[in-house]
Amino acid sequence: MMDRNADAPWSKFDPEVYVDLNYRTPLEVDLLIVRLLRDHFGRCFARGVPDAVRGVDVGAGANLYPALSMLPWCEKILLLEYAVPNVEYLERQVTGPEGYDVVWDAFWEVLREAPAYREVEPRNRFGEIVRVERANLLDLDGQRRWDLGTMFFVADSMSECPDEFQRGVRCFMDVLNDGAPFAAAFMKESLGYQVGDHRYPAYRVNADQVQDGLEKFAEELEIHDLHHMVRPGHEGMILALGRRNSEVAAP
Ligand SMILES: C[S@@+](CC[C@H](N)C(=O)[O-])C[C@H]1O[C@@H](n2cnc3c(N)ncnc32)[C@H](O)[C@@H]1O
Repeated sequence: MMDRNADAPWSKFDPEVYVDLNYRTPLEVDLLIVRLLRDHFGRCFARGVPDAVRGVDVGAGANLYPALSMLPWCEKILLLEYAVPNVEYLERQVTGPEGYDVVWDAFWEVLREAPAYREVEPRNRFGEIVRVERANLLDLDGQRRWDLGTMFFVADSMSECPDEFQRGVRCFMDVLNDGAPFAAAFMKESLGYQVGDHRYPAYRVNADQVQDGLEKFAEELEIHDLHHMVRPGHEGMILALGRRNSEVAAP
């Protein structure tokens, strides 16, 4: 029996353990991804930033670097997340008196190597423009759309079922306006992952499957197949960068 998204223990997800496992000591591959993200968004907005850009990070979990990478370009950023402990973690990052946790400073250091980021004071701006909302990726139906979007390790890291992976990718593409720059990351060939006492499902994807899932809905698509292993049970990470085209993606 394959584990579906609704079967996994999301209400038990421990964001602090997840941060300890993945981000407290920044990994070379995440810093590389942050550099690629920064340069992609910089290129997309090189001819100017439209008024009132709204960004979204889908399945934000306990990772702020996708949102930080959108900071210079956005008037507002929404973090959508399903697991209640992660929603609470994100709300603390937004509303905490000291601003977001120092763990995220290492990622900002890489972003601020680019001039557009250096003009931003990240902690104040994060508190001002970022909001958090509980939402299920699989229920997003294109009624609300954003001008810039990220989805990191979600469509591949929430279910073992191929149909839920494909639907997750389509739902993400469906929340983006035509021309919206986007970035999506996937664990390559993941067999699932452990966070504290709980095991979470994954769908095994490779770069070709990511390309197949996204190319109908994207232009200027770049697939970065990053052969960095961060733990046993996967074979690297895949980063997809591009812009949304005008193809209808409704599931
Ligand atoms: C591997 S974690 C990735 C978290 C974060 N984006 C990152 O880059 O580390 C998978 C995330 O997907 C979230 N998630 C699982 N099912 C979801 C769903 N149906 N809708 C939205 N988010 C979901 C989980 O709660 C978790 O935060």
